[in-house]
Amino acid sequence: MTESRTSRTAEWDATAYFRLSNPHVVWGQPVLDRLPLKGDETVLDAGCGAGRVTADLLERLPNGRVIALDISANMLTEARQQLQPRFGDRVTFVQSDLQEFSLAQPVDAIFSTAALHWVLDHPRLFECLFKALKPGGRLVAQCGGGPNIANVLERAAVLMRTNPFEPDFRGWTGPWEFASAEVTEDRLRDAGFVDIETSLEPKPTQMPDADEYRSYIATVVFGSHLDRLPDEELRQSFVQTLTDQAASDDPPFMLDYWRLNLTCRTPE
Ligand SMILES: C[S@@+](CC[C@H](N)C(=O)[O-])C[C@H]1O[C@@H](n2cnc3c(N)ncnc32)[C@H](O)[C@@H]1O
Repeated sequence: MTESRTSRTAEWDATAYFRLSNPHVVWGQPVLDRLPLKGDETVLDAGCGAGRVTADLLERLPNGRVIALDISANMLTEARQQLQPRFGDRVTFVQSDLQEFSLAQPVDAIFSTAALHWVLDHPRLFECLFKALKPGGRLVAQCGGGPNIANVLERAAVLMRTNPFEPDFRGWTGPWEFASAEVTEDRLRDAGFVDIETSLEPKPTQMPDADEYRSYIATVVFGSHLDRLPDEELRQSFVQTLTDQAASDDPPFMLDYWRLNLTCRTPE
């Protein structure tokens, strides 16, 4: 029996994510460059996380505002602590599920990095994003897609079929939607978007050592997996097995990230 594909509601270690999310900050810069801004717009950051990329977005909006939306209370607490002292009331925070949210007022643009693949129902997600935008409003986003982190996922899949882990993963289809560029283009068109561009790009990312790799995969990659395991010993064993396997790769501790870029707008 498979479970329904609802959004992940389990919590993040937002302080650890803030520290470990250097790759996400680097990936976020070219995505920001793809969003044309005058500087006075209101922009939704869809899945803002701990707010590091949100801060870079706010820097580009000296007279504008950001609505920082996330499903995770921990992430929003961390983001508020980081952003409110610097940006005051130019940033507001909304706890909501991207596949069922609505805003009081439509925004000029939507920006999103490293978040949309955590939302399982992309047709519903794109419908919500479309409704949240003004006419002519732009959506610029990047998330995991295609063969994202296939290497470590294959290893995790083997573990998940093996005792003692198997009973806790039986019937689970996983926490992500890694869509292709082609399927995403069709889904955006079906939601009503125009001027659609989608593409996949490789972003292989190496962790410096075993400690960083272990913390990174536990916090950033396999949080939902670990939430399913009933005790700390099993969680540590799951992460340590994957870390030991990555140590013997050449080069070691490499994650074969693939990012799905999407740009589109609502009709005028
Ligand atoms: C890897 S973090 C990315 C955070 C940030 N955008 C960045 O680039 O560092 C993914 C974020 O998406 C959020 N998220 C996952 N599913 C969500 C959903 N259904 N609705 C809203 N946010 C969601 C998570 O809570 C998490 O903060």
